Amino acid sequence: MCGIVGYTGKKKAIFVLLEALERLEYRGYDSSGVALLEDGKIFVEKKVGKIRELIRSLWGKQLDATLGIGHTRWATHGGVCELNAHPHTDQEGRFALVHNGIIENYRELKEFITSKGIEYKSETDTEAIVHLISLNYDGDLLRAVLKTIPKLRGAYAFAVFTAFEPGRVVGVRYGSPLVVGLGEGENFLASDIPALIPFTKNIIPLEDGEIADLTPEGVSIYDFEGNPKVKESIKIHWDIISAEKGGFKHFMLKEIFEQPRVVGDTIKGYISRDYELPFSLKEFRRILITACGTSYHAGLIGKYWLEKFVGVPVEVVYASELRYADTPIGPQDLVIAISQSGETADTRFSALSAKEKGAKLLSIVNVMGSALSRESDYTLYTHAGPEIGVAATKTFTCQLAVLFSLAISEHPEREKLMDELLKIPHLMEEVLSKSESIREIALKYTKSKNTLYLGRRLSYPVALEGALKLKEISYVHAEGYPAGEMKHGPIALIDENMPVVVVAPRDRVYEKILSNIEEVLARKGMVISVGFEGDEGLQKLSRDFMEVPKCHEELSPFLTVVPLQLFAYYIADYLGLDVDQPRNLAKTVTVE
Ligand code: M6R
Repeated sequence: MCGIVGYTGKKKAIFVLLEALERLEYRGYDSSGVALLEDGKIFVEKKVGKIRELIRSLWGKQLDATLGIGHTRWATHGGVCELNAHPHTDQEGRFALVHNGIIENYRELKEFITSKGIEYKSETDTEAIVHLISLNYDGDLLRAVLKTIPKLRGAYAFAVFTAFEPGRVVGVRYGSPLVVGLGEGENFLASDIPALIPFTKNIIPLEDGEIADLTPEGVSIYDFEGNPKVKESIKIHWDIISAEKGGFKHFMLKEIFEQPRVVGDTIKGYISRDYELPFSLKEFRRILITACGTSYHAGLIGKYWLEKFVGVPVEVVYASELRYADTPIGPQDLVIAISQSGETADTRFSALSAKEKGAKLLSIVNVMGSALSRESDYTLYTHAGPEIGVAATKTFTCQLAVLFSLAISEHPEREKLMDELLKIPHLMEEVLSKSESIREIALKYTKSKNTLYLGRRLSYPVALEGALKLKEISYVHAEGYPAGEMKHGPIALIDENMPVVVVAPRDRVYEKILSNIEEVLARKGMVISVGFEGDEGLQKLSRDFMEVPKCHEELSPFLTVVPLQLFAYYIADYLGLDVDQPRNLAKTVTVE
């Protein structure tokens, strides 16, 4: 939901900014821009479209500045045009600012600003911040920022510099992510860590209510009262290779193929009991899982496992719904918040409000040092590495690995179940080795306008996830449904033009789902099934069959989801769509 970057050092800032912006592009990609301090003056370039449009427009320009800020936008306030693209500047062009988040009271701020005779040029909320900083400036940028912050309502991260103080960039975090990168004679700001991987591995993740004051020589951190804070940096182990496409056409495909390795890495982190929680899951009256999108689907699968192996009732609630519900929550509840980024506003705020009501907060997060991980009582990490494709794939299966490990952690048969889990990475490789046959199947369905996905029990969230993948990257309407519910309504949709993807591993509901397939066939629907290898009965009922190796019945989602990820990928790729950056989406949604 917008990416921001800042640099001060000795290098040509433009190269740092553009490289970091390309890595942040997944956060938003309708327009982008940079501001540089060139010979004491602020130079701004903005373009509608992807970063490559910005790069094209900068081509051949001699830009020697060693300080600058950059932005990639996902529009919230104001349409997509150069005027609304960031950076924004004050009236005299002496201050430049990039922002991620929403300033909720910008209308009243705008009135105040225009009452001072200042022209408000854009339709954005962001422009208000830069005018206020300029109005509050008395020779010290940090002081102007400190004076401005109390006037802002909402969630934001921004980076600002002024032509009056060469070498200095100030970054502020309140509700939207921002990290500081530490270098030798240079320092960085960015919305997330992967953006800085090529430049430094020493990171200070800022917390809400913190300000970073950067010069090439050092970084000082302050709270919103202006008190200095001492912060430790963390060392990031992700290498640059893991954030590159590595020969794959898209990040999404690369990330699908990385699953055996990263799921293996994640499982390894939970084999020993070293990670053990300082509490027993059985202590709680209820477990409440909250998350969004794909992470929510992982939570739905986690519910089955936690109820089965722990025996505590589990509810799974969309974070955007939980926050404003009147659900009674108290100290007897454990809230598990699941988030790849650890920055999703809905998830963070619903989890925090549950924590305020007394619940214990456990998070499952991929990005180290992210806001949610710091706000939680306890964090379990997925070891998926950076996920760049907007569609979540490897982080989903890694979330499953953590949830399963957690669910069995106190179970008497833990060792046996762990052995079954350890087989999964290898079995995932087998699924991936059949990617070509999945591609051939997918290519038969590139003209379909709708697709129904069905599953029961653990396969129902897999069906939801398969449908989400197809929707978000192929723009094909797809719906996931519990197969048993089909007869209560959606069956009316089925005719000879409706592909119905059925997830049917041999588990305790296998016979039931075969009956559901018969219901589809009776209405001439086209059945594409995902099932265990050698399942001739299922294969005979299906127009197309995507097989996965047999595994422990509780672990089938790890395998059955992979053909569905590939199915969506191959359709989107065939349609020539922007697989890694689908329209209207952003990887991390840091606004409500
Ligand atoms: O970073 P999070 O896991 O909190 O993100 C949650 C959703 O925004 C995310 O899973 C989204 O649905 C993905 N685009 C799905 O592929």
